[in-house]
Amino acid sequence: MRRGNWHACHDHTGRQWGDEGKGRAVDYLSAQADVTARATGGDNAGHTLNVGEHLLKLHLVPSGILHPHVACVLGNGMVINPVNLVKEIEELRGFGLDVSPERLKVSTRAHLITPAHLALDRASERERGDSKIGTTLRGIGPAYGDKVDRRGIRVGEMLDVEAFAQRFEEALSRTNGDLARRGADLIDIHGAVEQYVKAAARLRPYITDTSMFIDDALRAGKRVVVEGAQGTLLDVDFGSYPFVTSSSPTVGGALTGLGFGPTYVDRVVGVAKAFSTRVGGGPMPTELDGPLADRLRGTGANFWDEYGTTTGRPRRVGWLDGVILRYACVINGFTELVLTKLDILSGFESLQICTAYEIDGERTTEVPASVDGLARATPVYETFPGWSEDVSEIRRMSDLPANARRYLDAIAELCRTPIDVVSVGPERAQLVHA
Ligand code: GDP
Ligand code: IMO
Ligand code: MG
Repeated sequence: MRRGNWHACHDHTGRQWGDEGKGRAVDYLSAQADVTARATGGDNAGHTLNVGEHLLKLHLVPSGILHPHVACVLGNGMVINPVNLVKEIEELRGFGLDVSPERLKVSTRAHLITPAHLALDRASERERGDSKIGTTLRGIGPAYGDKVDRRGIRVGEMLDVEAFAQRFEEALSRTNGDLARRGADLIDIHGAVEQYVKAAARLRPYITDTSMFIDDALRAGKRVVVEGAQGTLLDVDFGSYPFVTSSSPTVGGALTGLGFGPTYVDRVVGVAKAFSTRVGGGPMPTELDGPLADRLRGTGANFWDEYGTTTGRPRRVGWLDGVILRYACVINGFTELVLTKLDILSGFESLQICTAYEIDGERTTEVPASVDGLARATPVYETFPGWSEDVSEIRRMSDLPANARRYLDAIAELCRTPIDVVSVGPERAQLVHA
């Protein structure tokens, strides 16, 4: 059944908490693909692509869009804000890209993010106070909540404009009742209906049964790359619950989020960053502050510095957490890793990798299931010598400084997974191969 198609689960690997460089990795993998597809999440994702003079920040459209021969799919497992999707399509058109319905397919079964979900996301974050999740405020949690509560509105319903407008209005009125009880601002229902009906008309030609589209592609022997969003530690089952997103960004979510069988999966590519970052609340055992953190994060002067792609928030940074990296490899079954941002580690005298935790005096190499356990984890570090050379122009593994190779070997060994590609800068060509 294997037909040479692959599934790239970016992030799951190491970077535990998203922003590992999945976008740039999928851009690289898409050069040899026919279809790229998003399976989960929504516009909480922010995937940056730097190609020549183009600097694109994608939230919904898969990163394959930059390759003219690639078709892009927004799968049934996603939650889609149609107004923001229209905006993103227009932005991409502004870059001169072909974003026609022949190239972009949106699943009839994906769920809609409505202004009700945006308002509810804001209200629950405010009510949580100091223990807020730190969501992207894109309405993700409430939209998935309605989906599993069996009262969500699906993208396909937008095809019948009148029935859609009525269902949409009813949903907003119900939420306004809830918001009023909670003392939150109410939604302007009239304005929202107008805006969503307009977006529905605009998206109509893109809406289709994407599972059938993918099945046809797979049966024709085409290559499909699935672009992960978020990361393993943000997974609703495997992440640092409740400080997670509301979907399954791990490998299983790709199958239910698109509707194809595991028999088709040839490769599972984990994208990991050479150090750790996290945006939002919740524990992060290897978090650093002070000058070391400032160096890892950057000042914000460069677009690749550690400031959120979707929200602009400074990312929390720390040493590589090998415990979480290995856990991500276990959960996702990666066949290979892409390691990004190695260039940022040039110039450190020494580097640390967390290889175990101490929790309540006990040493462990497992990620505790409870968020309180993870919050009490003290990292046990192994120290590695650094390197001073600029690596951003290197293209072959054998040309990397010996200490950089030692660092990579230690990661591969810890994860029992080979590192096939290393990224040494944000531009398309800045990749190091074996
Ligand atoms: P994603 O959400 O996983 O796609 O990652 P983001 O796009 O949110 O964040 C990754 C950031 O790092 C982006 O600004 C990329 O352009 C940048 N980036 C990716 N790989 C590298 C690399 O190897 N070196 C440097 N300096 N920047 C990189
Ligand atoms: P990409 O695909 C980093 C985080 C938020 C918050 C938690 C829940 O670019 O890696 P949500 O809005 O999903 O309810 O927020 O998840 N989060 C991300 N962090 N990268 C992302 O996406 C993220 N998407 C959500 O910061 O902690
Ligand atoms: Mg991102």
